[in-house]
Amino acid sequence: MKEIVLSGIRATGQLHLGNYYGALSKFVRMQEEGVYDSNFFIADLHALTTHPDPKILHNNVKSILSEYLAAGLDPEKSTIFVQSDVPEISEMFLLLNMHVGIGELMRTASFKDKARKQLGIKTDNDNDDNIEKEIIGTDSNKRVNAGLLTYPTLMAVDILIQHADLVPVGKDQEQHLELTRRFARRFNSVYGVEYFKEPANFNFGGNAVKVPGLDGSGKMGKSEGNCIYLLDEEKVLRKKVMRAVTDEGPKAPNSPMSEPIKNLFTLLELVSTQDKVKFFTDAYNDCSIRYGDLKKELAEDIIKVTAPIRERIIDIQNNDEYLAKAVKMGAEKARARASKTLEEVREIMGIKRFF
Ligand code: ADP
Ligand code: TRP
Repeated sequence: MKEIVLSGIRATGQLHLGNYYGALSKFVRMQEEGVYDSNFFIADLHALTTHPDPKILHNNVKSILSEYLAAGLDPEKSTIFVQSDVPEISEMFLLLNMHVGIGELMRTASFKDKARKQLGIKTDNDNDDNIEKEIIGTDSNKRVNAGLLTYPTLMAVDILIQHADLVPVGKDQEQHLELTRRFARRFNSVYGVEYFKEPANFNFGGNAVKVPGLDGSGKMGKSEGNCIYLLDEEKVLRKKVMRAVTDEGPKAPNSPMSEPIKNLFTLLELVSTQDKVKFFTDAYNDCSIRYGDLKKELAEDIIKVTAPIRERIIDIQNNDEYLAKAVKMGAEKARARASKTLEEVREIMGIKRFF
């Protein structure tokens, strides 16, 4: 029996380098290893938690699907599907929610973060207890939607309904994965069964990557506005890299690096050769580094990664027939396993049919 791999990306816009290195490139590599039962999907229901415009939602799904295929996911080798094409997920979401605590959901970092955004509170302090008062608050114009709260339940269902063993995701998703394991254990113990297994993140032996932004701090992210997109034109991409935040340069040999410089090196390590990384590290350490040169090399090496993918995305995006065929095949396979799981979960929970 092959180990089951499952992962997904929300349909909230184009993919950036963070998504590529944190998630998509790992998906492709796992598929190519040929030893896994690989399943990759587009999380359109999860995208609803942040209220996308109905006019653009489908286009977002289409663009992620094209990006998956352009990066090398192959519908003949992996099951590629759209979350909403598997309605069993929605039914099991309702069932699993019966075993999930409101408190544990409210303490999730991504919930607090997104809830603050919906309420318009500007603070990054995770210990801020006020957030809970604000969420329950009395101002009816300010609302945090319940879908955002139950986001981790839905993600756990995506994973558990396929009985996934391995879930390749970036570092920011590890808390959600921890919750998934907890919900799986709880379900098993409440019903006295050994039904769900506990899935693990997968990083080819390394640590989960966090791709930094170009603005000197934090991670690259859609909502942070600091992204290099796979679809960026070369000119745009060069401009973004050349504008990346730096500092005044090392004042003494072997100085520690400031955050913005560390970030540039993190990106360089992802896209460039070890020789190049060593060259610029040595130059930093002996104070001869010129950040402009580093950025130029960085931009060209990023382009080497993104340009061929970009060309394929543009081709595939216009091939509606191929896109439809890919997700139809995927939906059939994903539904087959999901409906079997759902039947078994209903049985375990005591939901029986009269007919
Ligand atoms: P965003 O943060 O831009 O909204 P998503 O939350 O949709 O991106 O993330 C999709 C996948 O990409 C997840 O597996 C996530 O861990 C990964 N990911 C997103 N940003 C980064 C990043 N900067 N570094 C590493 N992985 C990332
Ligand atoms: N929460 C993930 C993200 O923001 C997307 C996602 C939804 C997911 N369901 C999943 C990832 C199941 C892995 C497995 O990136």
